[in-house]
Amino acid sequence: MTQTPPPAAPRTAIVTGGTGAIGSAICRALAAAGLEIVAIGHPAEGARIPAWRQDLSASGVDVAVELADLADAEAAAAAMQRACARLKAVDVLVNAAGITRDARFVKMTPEQWRAVLSSNLDSVFFCTRAVFADMCVRGFGRIVNIASVNGQKGQFGQANYAAAKAGMHGLTMSLALEGARHGVTVNTVSPGYVRTPMTAAIKPEVLQRIVAQIPLGRMAEPEEIARVVAFLCARESAYITGANLPVNGGLYMSA
Ligand code: CAA
Repeated sequence: MTQTPPPAAPRTAIVTGGTGAIGSAICRALAAAGLEIVAIGHPAEGARIPAWRQDLSASGVDVAVELADLADAEAAAAAMQRACARLKAVDVLVNAAGITRDARFVKMTPEQWRAVLSSNLDSVFFCTRAVFADMCVRGFGRIVNIASVNGQKGQFGQANYAAAKAGMHGLTMSLALEGARHGVTVNTVSPGYVRTPMTAAIKPEVLQRIVAQIPLGRMAEPEEIARVVAFLCARESAYITGANLPVNGGLYMSA
C-alpha cells in the first residue's frame, strides 16, 4: 500500500477544552513544539477569553479560540468546521473538554448522567468525526483523548464520569485500529488528580483523603499532563497507538 508521506512535523492542532486548566497547558506545550492552534472553549467562558488570550500572548503564544457547547452535535460540527477553516489541514486533535457532576449513584439524576456523558463522551465522537476521515486521506494524524484515572479504577460519586472516561478509551482503541494503516495514531492520556478548578471544587476534607492515597503524595500540575500529550503528538511517536498512558502519581497501576 502506498501512503502519502507524513509531514516533517505536525503543524496544526485543535484542542477541545483548550481554554481550561489542562487544555491551556496543552496549548502551551503544543505551541512550544511549533504548532498553530485553535482552542475550543465553552460559550459560558466567553467573557474571560480576551484575558486568557492576553495571558498566553504575554509568553509569546497565540491561540485562536472558538466557542461551542460540544455536547451538542450541531454546535460541535459547526465549531469544528470553523476551526478547520482557520487551520486548513488539521494534524492533531486533542479532546480535552469535560465536566463533572459528582453524586452518589442513588442521588444521581438522569440530567447529571446525561450532562457528563454528552459533554465528555459524545463530544469526542462529534469532534473526532470532523477530522478523522481527512487525516486518513492525508496519511497523518495524532488524536489524543484526555480521560481520567477514575475511568480506569472507578470513583465513589463518579458513576457518570467514570463511565464516560472508560468509554473514551474504548473509542480510542477502536479508532486506533481504523486509523493505523493510514498513519493516524489515537491514544488516551489518563490523568490522576490535577491542580485545576475542577479538583478545587472537591470538598477540602474529601480531597485531603484522596491526596493521602497518591503514592507521590501530591496532585499533578497541568503541565505534567501536557508534556505527555505533546510527546504523543510528535511525528516520532508514530509507533504508539491505542495506548492509555497514566499520569497519576501512582494512584492506579496496572500491568
Ligand atoms: N468511600 C466510601 N464512602 C464515601 C466516600 C468514599 N470515597 N466518599 C464519601 N463517602 C460517604 C461518606 O462517608 C458519607 O457516608 P455516611 O452518609 O455514612 O456518613 C456519604 O458518602 C456522603 O454522601 P452524600 O451523598 O451525603 O454526599 P456528599 O455531599 O458527602 O458528597 C461526593 C458525595 C460528591 C461523592 C463527595 O464525596 C465527593 O466529592 N467525592 C469525590 C469525588 C471525586 O473524586 N471527584 C473527582 C472530581 S475531579 C475529576 O474528576 C478529575 C479527574 O479526572 C480525577
